[in-house]
Amino acid sequence: VLKHRNLRPLFHYSPQENWMNDPNGMVYYDGVYHLFYQYYPDGTNWGPMHWAHTVSTDLFHWEDKGIALYPDDMGYIFSGSAVVDKNNTAGFKSNDNDPLVAIFTHHKSNNGLQTQSLAYSTDKGETWTKYEGNPVLENPGIVDFRDPKVIWHEPTQKWIMTLAVLDHVSFYSSPNLIDWHLESEFGAGRGAQGGVWECPDLFPLQVEGSDEIKWVLLVSINPGGPNGGSATQYFIGSFDGTTFTSENNEIKWVDNGIDNYAGVTWSNISEKDGRRIFLGWMSNWIYAGATPTEGWRGEMTIPLELKLIQKNDQYLLAFEAVAELNNLMSDDDVLIIDTPQKSIELENNSIVEYGSYWAEIEMETENINDFEIKTGNGLESIFIRFDKVNSTLSIDRSECGISDFDQLFKKEIKCDIQPSEGKIVLDLIVDQSSLEILINGGEKVMTVLFFSEYKYNSFSISGSSNNSFIKYFKINSIQKSVN
Ligand code: FRU
Repeated sequence: VLKHRNLRPLFHYSPQENWMNDPNGMVYYDGVYHLFYQYYPDGTNWGPMHWAHTVSTDLFHWEDKGIALYPDDMGYIFSGSAVVDKNNTAGFKSNDNDPLVAIFTHHKSNNGLQTQSLAYSTDKGETWTKYEGNPVLENPGIVDFRDPKVIWHEPTQKWIMTLAVLDHVSFYSSPNLIDWHLESEFGAGRGAQGGVWECPDLFPLQVEGSDEIKWVLLVSINPGGPNGGSATQYFIGSFDGTTFTSENNEIKWVDNGIDNYAGVTWSNISEKDGRRIFLGWMSNWIYAGATPTEGWRGEMTIPLELKLIQKNDQYLLAFEAVAELNNLMSDDDVLIIDTPQKSIELENNSIVEYGSYWAEIEMETENINDFEIKTGNGLESIFIRFDKVNSTLSIDRSECGISDFDQLFKKEIKCDIQPSEGKIVLDLIVDQSSLEILINGGEKVMTVLFFSEYKYNSFSISGSSNNSFIKYFKINSIQKSVN
């Protein structure tokens, strides 16, 4: 008997009702992770944007706080960031708490004019007041001028705002978050240029295994992604408080799947443990308004911890599920196969049918040409295929169940991959209607949504060779109620 699938994720953030896009204002303060997001409270499609607010102490259990910022005379509330103003540079402090300051884009709906504005909270993020001197950065005559991401730059003792401006980013500096001065621009003619640049982020990151620090610049682009539609690229280089210099010699993507957009990182986690934690909107502008959920639309990726690694003389970002996810792993609902196998076949499996799980698969690729991972229910399935000759990992959603709402959604999604030391290690993180694949320790990521009418209950791995290439397999259900 086929059981109907509930498309709502269990451990990824999704709004209880109505439309959500970009994560905004991500800031950690006093033990709490704050997440705001682009929200339209009157429907399941994009509309006049608000900032909705939700909070968590573990990045997985969220408590909704309602709407923090409503549209006003200056426009809709578009994407932006938030910081802790420890030195009270903006002068908003009124009690013992450090002021939290949000820096966001005001988007005027009649003429599309975009300016940057502030709002602040003196009660640890509970309530927000818009600054009476808004906007703090006027529009210089460029339509696409948005998504400010602000950091405190310790060496120069200044705030730095990275702003997306059509086909590049502009860096502004300020002593007080109110008066901004243009320092430099980066990007025209650099990186992917198939669409408008949006939602940048700039931050330092220590190279793993060394004390070297590099600067990372994330830039979302819509369209122009590697598999069509919207996607996020990154540059690695240096930043001296004025100028960003990129060392990239090729385009690097945060995610080589298709459903990870507008992602940025939390500010002020240095107060806790100094991790650099990323969160993206798990959709694609090409079909974001057509996905088949009812009453709500939009979900975030899992929070991912960023590492900067060195490989073949190149610097790369590696993405790991944040350690907090381990606390949601069920102790009982787990299956491990640690003797080498030619294939794995799980039929009517309760973990697969539960629909939220983490599968770890280690495969030896020396003596094979391909493999196929398939999960489905007999009527509907999704396929992950490795092709060694072409060095690709691909995902096929064309038969996943509900895929007719968009042509791009049905197209095969491809990523170049190389085995590492003769092996491919895949972590598959599945949550009802999403699949995040971390390849070889997160050196590449592929995130996709998939929708079906019925629950999937089978999971198989096979290949055309007769080798016992599957060295290790583990599937573990992820249960949000377990703390
Ligand atoms: C990115 C984006 C941002 C903008 C927001 C509007 O997805 O287009 O550039 O601020 O969404 O909702």
